[in-house]
Amino acid sequence: MKITVINGTEKHGVTYRMKEIFLEAFRDDAEITEYYLPGDGPGFCTGCTTCFRGNQNLCKDAEKVQKIEKSLLEADLLVFTSPAYVFHTTGAMKAMLDHFGYRWMPHRPAKEMFGKRAVIITQCLGAGGKSAAKDIKDSLSW
Ligand SMILES: Cc1cc2nc3c(=O)[nH]c(=O)nc-3n(C[C@H](O)[C@H](O)[C@H](O)COP(=O)(O)O)c2cc1C
Repeated sequence: MKITVINGTEKHGVTYRMKEIFLEAFRDDAEITEYYLPGDGPGFCTGCTTCFRGNQNLCKDAEKVQKIEKSLLEADLLVFTSPAYVFHTTGAMKAMLDHFGYRWMPHRPAKEMFGKRAVIITQCLGAGGKSAAKDIKDSLSW
């Protein structure tokens, strides 16, 4: 079983600990690939729309985007983690998700994503965990 984990923060804080607890049950059998954002992720989308027009290879961040995309497409289970930052997912996670806008339903969805299972782990001090999770869920659903 392959698991791809996209971490919305590089910090080894509460989110990290929750993710580690979740993955514990899979450690012996699964092949787990993790990305920590922003370090392992692409830079900000510049809005050039090259990807929407079918030339995603020409994106300035193509190398990083395509590496993550390959991991997402090959995985049996996806795990996304993020603390709530001002009621939303981290800017690092949003910056990465923007690069997959071209895979949204009105554009060029990847058939491998249909029926794929994902787990979203968020937490916060008071309020905003739900809307942080929704930011990620929107991208996975669409
Ligand atoms: C920039 C920033 C924005 C935050 N916004 C919220 C928020 O909207 N609601 C909330 O309850 N906590 C908020 N927090 C607190 C974090 O969600 C909380 O401390 C969380 O446990 C941090 O997770 P971590 O240890 O994995 O980094 C914010 C923290 C930061 C740094």
